[in-house]
Amino acid sequence: MKRTIKDLVNLKGKVVLLRVDFNVPIDEGGKILDTTRIDNELPTIEYLIKQKAKVVILSHLGRPDGFDVRKSLWPISIVLSRKIDCNVSFCNLVIGDEVKERIKLLQEGDILLLENVRFYKEEEECDMKFAREIASMGDIFVDDAFGVAHRKHATNFGLARILPNAIGFLMEKELTALNQILESPKRPFVAVLGGAKVETKTKILEKFIEKADAILIGGAMAYTFLKAKGIPVGQSIVYDESVPVARAILELAQNSGKKLLLPIDHICMHAKSKSIVTTSKMYGDLIGFDIGPETVKLYDEEISKAGEIFWNGPLGMYENKNYRNGTQSIAEHIAHSKAYKCVGGGDTVATINLFNLTKKFDYISTGGGATMKYLEEGSLPAIDVIQEKIK
Ligand code: ADP
Ligand code: 3PG
Ligand code: MG
Repeated sequence: MKRTIKDLVNLKGKVVLLRVDFNVPIDEGGKILDTTRIDNELPTIEYLIKQKAKVVILSHLGRPDGFDVRKSLWPISIVLSRKIDCNVSFCNLVIGDEVKERIKLLQEGDILLLENVRFYKEEEECDMKFAREIASMGDIFVDDAFGVAHRKHATNFGLARILPNAIGFLMEKELTALNQILESPKRPFVAVLGGAKVETKTKILEKFIEKADAILIGGAMAYTFLKAKGIPVGQSIVYDESVPVARAILELAQNSGKKLLLPIDHICMHAKSKSIVTTSKMYGDLIGFDIGPETVKLYDEEISKAGEIFWNGPLGMYENKNYRNGTQSIAEHIAHSKAYKCVGGGDTVATINLFNLTKKFDYISTGGGATMKYLEEGSLPAIDVIQEKIK
């Protein structure tokens, strides 16, 4: 078990460097479109303030190439100051004398949000000189940035190697939920996997063949599996290089006696006439963009029997209303099932928000890549470097 902020004593007056993942969707005008990742961070911040620490917050936003005003964390400091009852200020730098001065001015229970750490190329290079410079400004490092814990960057991996450290409440909550999926899922455990690229989902598929009782496949990646089985897929997206892998996964499922279901009908677009066709038999000009009603029925049977469900990846091209029904129907069935339901993945969480089903899920991971990687490997580099709890 990793050390948590509850294990840290005497925080009063200490400068806590808190790494969070405030990588929120933000529009060109700096308007924050979804505050989930900020809201989920409040318990940790509130706890540190109550302990009278001086809290210096570090985060990335997007993937900027050097300084980019559209990726500034300044709008986030405004939102944060509205959500939390204490002094929140912002500094448009991460290192340097000005930052040191601003930290000196902090009173116990104050918050200082620093600028986007990715404005410095040293962040993603995990430059230890950069990390040491930041570390010199604080007493303790708290990592609560689960969403980026699969990356070895200076302000997560680097800082943890220098300063006494612990994880925050959000990181603890994520690990507890994901460990439960890995170690003791309620049975039958059903995994629903969609999305586009097969190669990004191979490892998770292998993991679920090991852990789950049934795996329901949808999305563009289903066509690579259908092709591997010799079923015609028209002009649907097929990752030819992944066909052998798909074949191996199908064999693995069969040899392990696990149920791996593929779509039996599809909502397609006719490549020439652009008309929409629902069919169980694909042919030359059809492109599959969603699972069809018979597939929804088939998958619902498994969902209604499930004790636990993990869902990642939209089952169709949900961004287009014509191809949204499969994802929406399955989302609604999962939401209303009696199973313990967890979801992970950027696009998948977006669909749940879109269908107003957020409150129906038992666990919504704030991570995308990090969540999948944790389920695949059972560990993440930025978490591995955190100190263990003293027993
Ligand atoms: P997540 O972000 O939840 O992990 P992915 O990024 O793997 O999910 O997949 C989401 C993308 O997959 C969406 O952009 C969606 O449009 C696309 N997609 C799903 N099914 C299809 C399909 N049949 N054809 C083309 N794109 C699809
Ligand atoms: C995410 O949104 O998945 C995390 O903030 C990590 O972002 P990244 O993929 O740009 O490292
Ligand atoms: Mg995605």
